[in-house]
Amino acid sequence: MTFVTKFNRRLPEGLVSKLEIGCGERKQKGFVGIDLRDCGQEIVWDVREGIPLPDGSVDEIISSHTIEHFSDDEVREVFKEIYRVLKNGGTTYHILPHVDDPRAYYFDHKTFWNEDRIVSMIGVPGLDGFIIKQNHSTTEKNLCGMKELEFELVKT
Ligand SMILES: C[S@@+](CC[C@H](N)C(=O)[O-])C[C@H]1O[C@@H](n2cnc3c(N)ncnc32)[C@H](O)[C@@H]1O
Repeated sequence: MTFVTKFNRRLPEGLVSKLEIGCGERKQKGFVGIDLRDCGQEIVWDVREGIPLPDGSVDEIISSHTIEHFSDDEVREVFKEIYRVLKNGGTTYHILPHVDDPRAYYFDHKTFWNEDRIVSMIGVPGLDGFIIKQNHSTTEKNLCGMKELEFELVKT
């Protein structure tokens, strides 16, 4: 694909330092947002088609309750893209429903996550340059009392 022809109408000028994937209506302060729905964020884009940013250009990429909407293959491709656009030493942090919580099985979730799954995900070629900085579950941390999985990876 050529990023130039597929860039959307609100691509930020200059380099992006902090990116939130699947930001929805609640984008984190200080982050450029990318979402396939137009929620007023900077980039309206389906990340399954890649991340429309240059190699090694981003310091930090986060998501909240988004990764579980991707299939196994899509997860691998999205994380390869995250790896590509991160700078060396850049970090990527994600939070999502833990497989132990019944809400992990919401009808449009395609993958189900626990700590072991993070370890196996970064064991594949193309993602083996990540190391795990943080990988744990939290119980009843958010307002809904949902058990969530948090993980943070560092590009080495
Ligand atoms: C459950 S919502 C979470 C929204 C927000 N991060 C939050 O925590 O409130 C999942 C978000 O991921 C977005 N999303 C799902 N698939 C996507 C894709 N392929 N590319 C970009 N965004 C996607 C959805 O449009 C939605 O805004």
